[in-house]
Amino acid sequence: MPQFDFLVIGSGIAGLSYAAKVARYFEQTQQDVSIAVITKVQADETNTKYAQGGIAVVWAESDSFEKHIHDTMDAGDGINNREIVEIVVKEAPERIMELIDYGTRFDKEHGGAYDLAKEGGHSDHRILHFKDITGAEIERALLAEVSRHKSIQIFTHYYAVELITQHQLGATIYRYHDDIKCFGAYVLNRKTGQVEKFLAKTTLLATGGIGNIYQSTTNPTIATGDGIAMAYRSKGICDNMEFIQFHPTSLYQQGKKPSFLISEAVRGFGGILKHEDGSTFMEHYDERLSLAPRDIVARAIDSEMKKNGVDHVYLDVRHCDYDKFLEHFPNITQYCLDTGIDIRKDMIPVVPAQHYMCGGIRVDAHGKTNINFLYAVGECACTGLHGANRLASNSLLEAAVFGHKAYESAVAGFAGAVIPDGIPEWDDSGTTHPEEHVLVTEMTRELNSIMSNYVGIVRTNRRMKRAYDRLELLHKEHEELYKESKVSVPICELRNMINVAYLVLKMAMARRENIGLHFNSDHVGDRS
Ligand code: FAD
Ligand code: SIN
Repeated sequence: MPQFDFLVIGSGIAGLSYAAKVARYFEQTQQDVSIAVITKVQADETNTKYAQGGIAVVWAESDSFEKHIHDTMDAGDGINNREIVEIVVKEAPERIMELIDYGTRFDKEHGGAYDLAKEGGHSDHRILHFKDITGAEIERALLAEVSRHKSIQIFTHYYAVELITQHQLGATIYRYHDDIKCFGAYVLNRKTGQVEKFLAKTTLLATGGIGNIYQSTTNPTIATGDGIAMAYRSKGICDNMEFIQFHPTSLYQQGKKPSFLISEAVRGFGGILKHEDGSTFMEHYDERLSLAPRDIVARAIDSEMKKNGVDHVYLDVRHCDYDKFLEHFPNITQYCLDTGIDIRKDMIPVVPAQHYMCGGIRVDAHGKTNINFLYAVGECACTGLHGANRLASNSLLEAAVFGHKAYESAVAGFAGAVIPDGIPEWDDSGTTHPEEHVLVTEMTRELNSIMSNYVGIVRTNRRMKRAYDRLELLHKEHEELYKESKVSVPICELRNMINVAYLVLKMAMARRENIGLHFNSDHVGDRS
């Protein structure tokens, strides 16, 4: 069975930037280490790859760290961890320079200076981007960087099922036990169907988002909250799970999953939200109009849709300079054209869709979870940066900064990590291959419906109570199925999504005030 010094679960910006740094450190100090990066499908199929708008950094002379800190805290409704916000904002230029050193290209103006875009909630131009496919460019450069290091082995089509802790050695673990240790993970080799034991001295969860608990999401199908659910089942602490970010402008295409994103940078470029008759509405909600922070814009659209009984609103870019638009947004322009929308003549139909999880596994300023030798970085982690709502383009940045923080801490603590003897193989005795795949499909549909209808942009006490009762039943039914089945990716993903949905709901029900992305209409007036 494989044994590694470092196990990295996830090959997006968080996992790859951490792995590259760990590898480089040990090369420079001339020590041999082994680093495994596992990913549930091919290496580049990540939320990272789909990022459009870009990565936020204070770069312009007119800008300042203080302004970026202020904007981040303002979007987060003030419950961000200010110390973390300062760290991320101030370390951003250094981390961005590293991405550039790895070969990441960002668009430049004709004079050679970087072209800085503006997005909702930002008081200055500070978004570095590569056309409208920034994430794909970062992912490409990071995979190239990782491939330069012999100590890193990438395992594609390997699916992490469960973390290994003392629990597997027979110990009873209590929720706030302060001496839980992680020794790696049980991992399903999707090609052989066997669960393998990946032992590791240090493990990083970089498993990304949770979008697929909802009916419509901009996230690819891999985003099923696996890391958060695995950590939670191993008694990891999670925070801020009620703060689900809905992106205001996904392309309206009924029944299409994932939803195609129309980047916020399009509104930064001059795109205006409108009704079918051309009238605007954002002036009724926020003085920043179409460029207000996402929670405000998404709620405004939701309210307008309900008021007018329509399925979507429009984004109008017909007045924008087409050549410049095309240069900046070639992917969006082409995608629209492929679906019959000519942005020179037609307004773009848009609707909010789940986009980002602001909460996640609680980590400290070094990316450490409450479980020893277990780190979490990127969208699956909750650092305190985002507070109650993430500022646009701050998440790629957070992953790069915390990839660095976790690397520093992990290499410093490496000498103390020991894997105990006697960790058992995966036990699937008494289980069989399930014959009824329809059960998983139907349960997933039910889960999506519960979350979208009752725990979406606008919540109420009654909706959440209904969601809780339905989810309890779904959880019970699925646990029975899980216990009698040989592990498969669909069954595990559904289990994880039910666990994550429960955390979202539990924290939403516990929140007694309207703040950031959590809006319960029974609490109107309580800080809303
Ligand atoms: P990901 O990039 O999602 O990587 C997750 C990895 O974990 C994958 O390799 C996956 O296979 C692996 N994984 C998950 N579960 C398992 C398992 N059980 N076993 C093995 N492997 C597993 N943010 C910005 O800052 N700027 C933007 O412009 C921007 N645009 C976006 C546009 C879209 C359409 C989307 C969806 C998101 C956007 N975001 C943007 C958000 C940002 O892309 C993500 O938050 C960020 O990329 C997450 O990176 P990550 O490394 O944490 O996770
Ligand atoms: C976008 O391009 O609108 C996405 C930006 C983000 O999610 O940060």
